[in-house]
Amino acid sequence: MEKVQKEMREAMQGKTKLEESDIPKFSYLNLVIKETLRLHPPGPLLVPRVCSETCEVMGYRVPAGARVLINAFALGRDEQYWGSDAESFKPERFEGSSVDFKGFNYEFIPFGTGRRICPGMTFGLSSVEVSLANLLFHFDWMLSQGMKIEDLDMMENSGLSAPRRSPLLVLAKPIIPL
Ligand code: HEM
Repeated sequence: MEKVQKEMREAMQGKTKLEESDIPKFSYLNLVIKETLRLHPPGPLLVPRVCSETCEVMGYRVPAGARVLINAFALGRDEQYWGSDAESFKPERFEGSSVDFKGFNYEFIPFGTGRRICPGMTFGLSSVEVSLANLLFHFDWMLSQGMKIEDLDMMENSGLSAPRRSPLLVLAKPIIPL
């Protein structure tokens, strides 16, 4: 958080109102969003598919008519693709990497892939960028009294969408007035 805030506050060069046109200046913010989507895809099982023709995938026979779920959550944490620190939040892993969420890297598909890929990807991403950038630019964030980082429950509930398992309780300290 400190690293992303430092980058943003320096790039703003004294400006106090953040605009959408400022977003391209925040390259580390972009890595933070990617890493968040890798570890916490909001649609962890994408949208269910139905197999149209019986086929074989990696030795498994998938009959026509079978419902198929793609576990994007598990793919995003698979050590085979992400290394032994797959479970760690490390935005730097995307630095200089061509791995993106546009549907061509199957280990990272928070917006799905193929012809049913999320058509709202650009809109969704802009909304996350603008809201997160404003929250980080204007405020410093602290855990509520007595709470330690180790106490944070970062798991989600299972289901079609992935809300947090426990509410996030944080204190906002205004730094740059709105
Ligand atoms: C960060 C924000 C968002 C994420 C992570 C997200 C993720 C997804 C995922 C995983 C799917 C299923 C894709 C698949 O099964 O291959 C999907 C489908 C879809 N999304 Fe999004 N989405 C986001 C924002 C939006 C927004 C803002 C809109 C509309 C304005 C939208 C509209 C849709 C629609 C209509 C589908 C169904 C497409 C189809 O079945 O053909 N999404 N989204």
